[in-house]
Amino acid sequence: ADKGLVDSFGRRITYLRLSVTDRCDLRCTYCMPEKMRFLPRSEVLSLEELHRLALAFIDRGITRIRLTGGEPLVRRDMLDLVKAIGARLGDGLDELTLTTNGMQLADKAQALADAGVRRINISLDTLDPALFARLTRRDSLPQVLSGIAAAREAGLKVKLNTVALKGLNEAQIPDLVAWAHGEGHEVTLIETMPLGEVDGDRTDHYLPIPAVVDQLERRFTLAASDHRTGGPARYYDIAETGGRLGLITPLTNNFCATCNRVRVTATGQLFACLGGSEQVDLRAALRSEDSDALLSRALDTAMQVKPERHHFAIAEGSAPAQPRHMSMTGG
Ligand code: GTP
Ligand code: 5AD
Ligand code: SF4
Repeated sequence: ADKGLVDSFGRRITYLRLSVTDRCDLRCTYCMPEKMRFLPRSEVLSLEELHRLALAFIDRGITRIRLTGGEPLVRRDMLDLVKAIGARLGDGLDELTLTTNGMQLADKAQALADAGVRRINISLDTLDPALFARLTRRDSLPQVLSGIAAAREAGLKVKLNTVALKGLNEAQIPDLVAWAHGEGHEVTLIETMPLGEVDGDRTDHYLPIPAVVDQLERRFTLAASDHRTGGPARYYDIAETGGRLGLITPLTNNFCATCNRVRVTATGQLFACLGGSEQVDLRAALRSEDSDALLSRALDTAMQVKPERHHFAIAEGSAPAQPRHMSMTGG
């Protein structure tokens, strides 16, 4: 029998986003409040449990794993986890990647590359130190820029994630793209998603990507590319820079029909959709006596409950679509 995971809409699930912590060393204003309450450490899966979980997914046909957070690199045993999961590269696993804020890459990029990581997504919303400090509530742009440089030096393929923010980084996006492409990095622009309460109203700074594309097209020539990573981004090549641009448009252009992924929190809760509340407890299965069988059954349940699509909307003053913060599932 086919062990592969296929949901009730016939979508093949081959991509796992595994959050290893909800903690973070930045406080991006669109992601969390300044005084964010984090999970007690006792709730979080151990390294050994995360490793077993990853193997259970690989057994069911998951071929790509992206480690997320919070910020994955704030977890002290993170490199051991990357090494342990990385041992399955070429043996069921095609790709092991990370989404990080770059704060700790100066120290850790080389070890990640040595463990088999080939590409990495790094969040960067601005090159302006003052705006960076305002957006992340930490004055750490130089640290992140040296992290990005270290990733390249370690031979990692870098993709920068930029959340498009009206009246904040809006005017700087064309320059940011030009800089990134000049450095040999890709850039992906992302629409703000309404997840979790933050201080203030996220809708104030919501910027639809089509408006950014209009602005970019005044300076650059964009040509649709058939490049795919298995993620939600649609890609364009920019003639003038020779670089690639990704667009993630959960609000203006829904991409759910080709969804290939599920996400798991650091406490072992599987969320079948980023925008939904459908949830399966993998930790209970993991901690039970007959864990292999129960985990496998839990994954089948996840396939049955995965919804057809998310229903994000940004309306002034509206409550978040989900009370859960992005830092729970890492996207
Ligand atoms: P690759 O395509 O493998 O490079 O990764 P990615 O772009 O899917 O991952 P990354 O962690 O860099 O996420 C970039 C943005 O995409 C984040 O804002 C995520 O929240 C968002 N994202 C990732 N997967 C999904 C999804 O299934 N649904 C929605 N709505 N957003 C997603
Ligand atoms: N909407 C869209 N993207 C977000 N990110 C964090 N919070 C949000 C949000 N509310 C981005 C981060 C990071 C990626 C994992 O998700 O900037 O690049
Ligand atoms: Fe941390 Fe990422 Fe959230 Fe920023 S977006 S606070 S870097 S988890």
